[in-house]
Amino acid sequence: MNDTGPASELSALLDATVDAVILIDSRGCIEVFNQAAERLYGYAAAEVLGRNVNLLMADKDRNNHDAYMERYERTGVAHIIGIGREVENRRKDGSVFPGFLSVGRIAKTHPPRYVGFVHDLTLRHQALAAVVRERDRANRYLEAVQAVLVVLDPNRRVTLVNRKGCEVLDAEERTLLGAEWFEAVVPAEERAGASAQFHAFLERHAQGPVYDEYRVCRPGGEMRTIAWRYVAIADAVGAVTGVLCSGDDVTDARRAEADARQAHERITHVSRLATMGEMASGISHEINQPLSAITTYAQAARRLLQADQSHNEAVREALEQIAAQALRAGEIIRRLRSLVRSRETQREPVQINVLIEELGPLTRADARMNDVRISLDLGADLLWVDIDPIQIQQVLLNLVRNAVQAVDCREHGKREIVIHTEMHGEDQLEVRVCDNGSGVSAEFLPRLFTQFATTKSDGTGLGLAISRSIIEAHRGKIEYQPNVPEGSCFLFRLPVIQETRS
Ligand SMILES: Nc1ncnc2c1ncn2[C@@H]1O[C@H](COP(=O)(O)OP(=O)(O)OP(=O)(O)O)[C@@H](O)[C@H]1O
Ligand SMILES: [Mg+2]
Repeated sequence: MNDTGPASELSALLDATVDAVILIDSRGCIEVFNQAAERLYGYAAAEVLGRNVNLLMADKDRNNHDAYMERYERTGVAHIIGIGREVENRRKDGSVFPGFLSVGRIAKTHPPRYVGFVHDLTLRHQALAAVVRERDRANRYLEAVQAVLVVLDPNRRVTLVNRKGCEVLDAEERTLLGAEWFEAVVPAEERAGASAQFHAFLERHAQGPVYDEYRVCRPGGEMRTIAWRYVAIADAVGAVTGVLCSGDDVTDARRAEADARQAHERITHVSRLATMGEMASGISHEINQPLSAITTYAQAARRLLQADQSHNEAVREALEQIAAQALRAGEIIRRLRSLVRSRETQREPVQINVLIEELGPLTRADARMNDVRISLDLGADLLWVDIDPIQIQQVLLNLVRNAVQAVDCREHGKREIVIHTEMHGEDQLEVRVCDNGSGVSAEFLPRLFTQFATTKSDGTGLGLAISRSIIEAHRGKIEYQPNVPEGSCFLFRLPVIQETRS
């Protein structure tokens, strides 16, 4: 058959249409039902031609369809014609499917006729339902995570915050979404630092996760300390579109740490006081030595003065000894006081290299007077330490002073001290003060770091003991190693603050 008339062309066109095409008359009776309609509704055209179109509709529309048509005829107000909407359709087997129905009135027909196009939405509905299911599932995960999750765009605006985040911030999701994060929740005094760290993360092209810790402020003014981890979110071509910030509320943990530290300091103080008891006998012995020397020299001086003038030189010497011994007794007392004093320690993040460089003027003066060369060998890329800078400088001065005294045995021009700094593993920083002096003898070694142990006529033997108590109060360790090929190395290690590489 090769019929090419307009009617058969139209029918071929209708059958080629993917959507169902249904033509109805003014009473709603079906006049045309194309092949797509047959496939969609499961009716053969012959079964439906002449029947009311409402047999293709699900319940509500089915019952009201005649009334809809009547209302349109009467009022001329279109509710669907020329507009289209999603409707529920009924197949021959009674099953229902979603479809988009657009209806047009056929021009110049009296009484009017209408054509309806029905596009099957089943697949789209299924896809949508799958997306919603996935979204709900992802949301459930987000809510289940016991961490604060916040996504920031590169302009620091909040694009997502989970329920835990709202809880910790005591804020509603809608007030946070779109807000500039650092302005909205970070207290003014920490804002610049936190914001700079975020900026640095983006600048570094967001490689690898980065950790930061800063506080957030609730509307009531209460602060929570959060440990953050930043991970970049990139698009298909690798451009960073956002940053996932996951945070743990560490407020209670940090509080407990601070309490523990205070307790530790109290205990250290108590144990220092206990040590004081042990030291008492040592003290009286140590002080008695110079005091009895003072008494002896004073008596001698008095006797010498009673005798004739020719003893002038001996008297001067006795008086010098008196002065020297009195000074030594005074020095013992002074050092003891600094050992026992419980200063509220002032911890702060410090770059050890800066601290050592600051000591330069003090150590250089000492070195120049004794013709000693002090050089610095400071490591690069060190993490910071949380220390009392005054106390640690005290330790360094003790070690440098000892080294200066130890190299005295060598001839001028060959007296060397080197201060090294470097990382020891991932979490400790090591400082070494090395000299090419006399070294520590095997006999003296067991007494090193104990109070009053000295080999010097004018020493108190407290420098290393004090240094050790300071380093241990910083949860560090101090020790002696022989230097190669000669001399001593005193080294101490301190725990570092993670992620402060400068
Ligand atoms: N760099 C060093 N080289 C060799 N021996 C050292 C060195 N540092 C310390 N010692 C030995 O350890 C002893 C104890 O040192 P410590 O600093 O505790 O007291 P001191 O130096 O004798 O007295 P003070 O510190 O009061 O001047 C010293 O007398 C010395 O014998
Ligand atoms: Mg000393």
